[in-house]
Amino acid sequence: MNVKERESLLKQGSLKVKWPAEPLLGAYYGEEEVEVAVKTIRESFDPTVGFGFICPEIEAFERAFADYCGVKDCVSINGAGSGLDMVMMCLDLEPGDEVICPSVNFRAQPMSIVGQGGTWIPCEIDPVTLQADPNDIEKRITPRTRAIYPVHMNGLSAPMDDYYEIAERHPHPKYGPLKVIGDAARSCGGGYKGTKIGKKGWMTVFSFHTQKLMTTLGEGGAITTDDETIVPRLKAIRQFGWGAGGWGTNYKMTKVQAAVGLVQVKKLDQMIGSRRKVAQARSKMLEGIPGLTLPFEPEGCVHTYYLYTLLVPKEWAGEKRDEFMMRLREEYGVDSVVANPPAHTSIPFLAEHTGRSSLPVSEEIAARLFCVPTHPCMSEEDNAYICAALWDLAEKMKA
Ligand SMILES: Cc1ncc(COP(=O)(O)O)c(C=O)c1O
Repeated sequence: MNVKERESLLKQGSLKVKWPAEPLLGAYYGEEEVEVAVKTIRESFDPTVGFGFICPEIEAFERAFADYCGVKDCVSINGAGSGLDMVMMCLDLEPGDEVICPSVNFRAQPMSIVGQGGTWIPCEIDPVTLQADPNDIEKRITPRTRAIYPVHMNGLSAPMDDYYEIAERHPHPKYGPLKVIGDAARSCGGGYKGTKIGKKGWMTVFSFHTQKLMTTLGEGGAITTDDETIVPRLKAIRQFGWGAGGWGTNYKMTKVQAAVGLVQVKKLDQMIGSRRKVAQARSKMLEGIPGLTLPFEPEGCVHTYYLYTLLVPKEWAGEKRDEFMMRLREEYGVDSVVANPPAHTSIPFLAEHTGRSSLPVSEEIAARLFCVPTHPCMSEEDNAYICAALWDLAEKMKA
């Protein structure tokens, strides 16, 4: 983007939509979702039908989402937080058992380990992809390690094959090869080596929260797996121990959510396609921008660009990055967010549970990263304005 283009965009004025850094509706909705929701509600008026609970709508959505991910099974649930708790329950952790997941992450994964009585072993991220670093994971494995628990961070797949190799090399003395379990809350529909995210992993947890890539009326989630033997346990946990028995509670998605989810999953590739167009146009406009490192898409991956993550130079880490974000908001009206600060330092509860470990790469990268708004419905104009603002400010800050 040349100086003239930038100046003209900035002169023309601000964004047409005041995009929050992480928009409050990540997908788009249309009449189809409204119609199916109304139809499903009307059908539920009948006292012999009602809204409940494991019904054809739920089963149809589960089949459609499993097929979309290319896996045998999908268990729908009320959110990814519950799903992460459920996959940790399936490990039957004993005190002292360890699970490794990255610290530059949303807090839900570490919380799910601690919540099930396990020990969270935070690991470093790869500074280029921002995914859990396989080499660092390998160094942290002990005889107590039970699982490698990567997050597919900000819309990009984590390098699952690398984790599987490590898992095979370091079998647990009692349980055999380590389990690899993915958190794809932000990455539904992303690709990895010709498969969809969800295919690789003992289990993968998805979120359909309002901000996510597709949504089931604001809350919802799913667990996908190719392991048919674990499905009865997941279903029992979701519904008070029904079926397979054992402990369970209520983690169910509702019938209306499932009906809407069936419409959303059919639109998912289209919505991701639109996100990719915005991101690719943006990366082209930002080519050569001073100081900032643009998001990276490794070969073989299809990035969903749930977030468009930028890095400031090392010298700008911390305060100068914060100043950049503040000026971007105040002088240009462009919102941004740090997603995410390291959970092992920024969340006191988790800090206490990790003995305040030190993770120099994660701490440095988290002090350099920030995410600017993106959305499948973002106009070319708004995208160009955001780029003009980034260019203008990066040049001022550099000077
Ligand atoms: C990486 C990650 N994991 C888990 C969650 C929790 O998802 P949910 O809101 O569906 O419980 C989120 C939500 O923000 C997330 O970003």
